[in-house]
Formats: sequence, C-alpha cells, structure tokens
Amino acid sequence: MHTQVGIIGAGPAGLVLSHLLHLKGIESVVLENRPRQYCEERVRAGVLEQGTVDLLCEMGVGERLKKEGLVHGGIELRFGGKGHRIDFRELTGGKTITIYGQSEVLKDLTNARLAAGGQVYFDVDDVSVHDFVGNKPKIRFARNSKPEDLTCDLIAGCDGFHGICRPAISQALTIYEREYPFGWLGILAEAPPSSEELIYAYHERGFALLSMRSPQLSRLYIQCSPEEDIHLWPDEKIWGELHKRLESTEGWKLIEGPITQKGVTGMRSFVAEPMQYGNLFLAGDAAHIVPPTGAKGLNLAVADVRVLAQAIVEFYKSGKRHLLNQYSATCLRRVWKVQRFSWWMTSMFHLFPDASPFDQKRQMAELDYVTSSRAGAQTLAENYVGLPM
Ligand code: FAD
Ligand code: DHB
Repeated sequence: MHTQVGIIGAGPAGLVLSHLLHLKGIESVVLENRPRQYCEERVRAGVLEQGTVDLLCEMGVGERLKKEGLVHGGIELRFGGKGHRIDFRELTGGKTITIYGQSEVLKDLTNARLAAGGQVYFDVDDVSVHDFVGNKPKIRFARNSKPEDLTCDLIAGCDGFHGICRPAISQALTIYEREYPFGWLGILAEAPPSSEELIYAYHERGFALLSMRSPQLSRLYIQCSPEEDIHLWPDEKIWGELHKRLESTEGWKLIEGPITQKGVTGMRSFVAEPMQYGNLFLAGDAAHIVPPTGAKGLNLAVADVRVLAQAIVEFYKSGKRHLLNQYSATCLRRVWKVQRFSWWMTSMFHLFPDASPFDQKRQMAELDYVTSSRAGAQTLAENYVGLPM
C-alpha cells in the first residue's frame, strides 16, 4: 500500500489533518489501534476555542457543532462563596467558546472522512515506523491479523501521549516535564447543568469544576489524589464533595442526577522538542500534554495540525521543504504559551499538598486581582478563548 501521508492515530489531530489534506487534494491513510466505537465513546475534552470552531466549520464538519454546540460568552470564577464572571465577549472583542464534546467532534470527523472515501483503518495492531530519516518512510501494521506495509512520503505521529511515534525518535528529543501532586475525578451526570456557564471553583477542600455537555448532561470534576481509587467514591460521596466545594452564599443550588460515567485523570505538563525528526512529524498529545485546567489539550492538537497541513500543502505544491522545516519551531511558540497558561490556571486553582498559609493567601489575592482588574481578567480571557494563530 502507498499513500502520500501516513497518519498514526484517529484522534482529533489525526482526523483533522487527514481531512484538511483531503480538501487540498492530498491523499492520506489513518491507522488507529482502537475500535471506532471506543474512540467515539471516550469522554474527554469539552471546550472548543473560537479558532477550533471556525476551522471545523471551514472544513465542512461544523453542521452539527453549529446546531448542538453551546456558545458561551464567559466563565465564572468562584471563591470565598462568591462568583465572579469573566466576560469573554467584552474583554476579547466579541470572542466566545463552544461546549461540544470531543466524542462528538470525533464522530463528525470520522463520518466526514468516510463519506469522502477517506481511508481510516480502526482496530489495527502492531503499528511501527521505519526509514523516516530517508525519503521512503514506511509504516508496518497488522490488519485482521495480516501484516501490511504502508509506504508514504511523510509520517504524521498523531498517536497521543502513549503512542509509538515519540518513543521511535526519543534519541533526538529533549523532554521538559512537570507532574502535579493531584488529579481530577470527573463525572458525567444526567442532570441539567446547574449554571449556564462553566464554574471554576477555588476551595480550601480543593478545586472543583462545573461543566456540561448538553442542556441535559452535566460534566463535573473535583481535585483528588493522582492515585485516587475510584471505587472508594460512591455517587453520594462525589455529590457531597461537589456541594461543599461549589458552595455559594448567593442562593445558587447544585442539581444532582444519575452518574453515568466516572474516572480519574492524572495531571502533567510535558513537551518533547523538536516535534520533527526527518520525515516524521509529531502533533498533539504525541508531542505535548497540558494539565486540563485551561481546557487546551484538544485545541492545541488542532492548532498543530493546522500548521502541519499548510506545510505539507506547500511541500507538494512547490517541492520546497521550508515550511516543513519550520513546523516544529512554529508550533512550539504556541505550545509554550499554552503550557504557561495551563500551568498558571492549575497553580491558581488547586490546593497543593505542601501549600503554606502564605501560599493560600497569595492564591486568593491572585484570584481577587484577576477578577477585579481589567488587565488581569483580559489576560485570562484572551488565553482562554484562544490566542490568534
Ligand atoms: P488523542 O486524542 O489521544 O488521539 C490519539 C489516537 O492515537 C488515539 O485514538 C489512540 O487510540 C491512537 N493510538 C495510540 N497509540 C497508537 C498506535 N500505536 N497505533 C495506532 N493508533 C494509536 N483536554 C481538555 O482540554 N479537557 C479535558 O477535559 C480533557 N480530558 C481528558 C481526559 C483524559 C482521560 C485524557 C487522556 C485526555 C483529556 N484531555 C482533555 C486532553 C485531550 O483529550 C487531548 O489533548 C486530545 O485528545 C489530543 O488529541 P490527539 O489527537 O493529539 O490525541
Ligand atoms: C472541561 C474540561 C476542562 O479541562 C475544562 O477546563 C473545562 C471543561 C469539560 O470537560 O467540559
């Protein structure tokens, strides 16, 4: 089998890249080691930046997103029992975010790829990359237990944090990393969201976040230990903790409902540099991870492949590699700004196990500053809605 671009991973990065290339007449094959249903049912990110929404719409995969996505013009920061709204529209010249689950984005992208005759192979095994330093890169994999070779001009490693592409070039990489001494326990509940907008809550018991997926579905998170055993968290205990951490002196009430999914996620900041070696290009979580507090993981993955698609289009049009050669440096400028923002949001809202009373007073002062100074609020708002490309 031969194609122009071999893409490993059918997450947001791999599928957006494949479809962007298709729209420019460039052929790709996407290899995914999980079944389609698993990819489409995994509960992950939920907040889309304006730029991500615009790109999906320009690509022709925004029809359901425009109908079902919830457009939000701000978020609430809650501390000391009081809410403080950050007004995105007013602070960023009209920009908004859209709540639309990653699983829905993946369904739309997969449908669009398949409807256009795209080659997306789910459930493949034993994927490995070869000869990417030269001009004849090759991907080996097994389909229905039969080994196959896919030769291509370029390989895109869109296989997430636990994929095989980054380890394949580890000798060429420098890793920058930070682990956090906490994780998030997340639930999906059949309950109408208790607030029209997201609530990020600072509390002496730890961080809590109220989000949603639809007018009937709430998504909520609480800060927990990174090794938290989910079996020790019956539903009543989760709701009890959410009530305490989201408490308000302003007459606000948390609406409960049956919990349909729960899980624990660890938190880390991670960057691998450079994001390219020979003809192998890393994009999305394969190259970097952010802690989820700024809702940036999916958006950053999409920003990477937008840059990569442009470079690949230029390569096929002119035969020149200059944009391909700049790919890593171009992406990393954004990656580090988003790392900084995600680290900052995480540091501002979470209770660190070794925090002193001084640290906690400082956190409160920072929240007070961000919500009472226009400059402070604007810094948060312009990063949250997404920095310009
Ligand atoms: P992925 O979505 O990870 O896609 C990579 C794909 O490659 C996967 O489908 C994987 O199965 C496949 N793959 C892996 N190895 C191989 C292989 N060897 N061969 C073939 N295919 C392979 N971000 C937020 O902004 N907000 C959140 O609330 C949030 N929650 C998250 C919860 C969890 C549990 C996780 C893991 C991540 C979460 N994220 C969140 C991050 C966000 O979902 C990711 O940043 C985003 O999915 C990155 O997209 P991607 O395409 O780069 O990688
Ligand atoms: C969601 C996840 C986030 O990490 C975040 O900061 C906001 C919302 C969500 O899953 O809805």
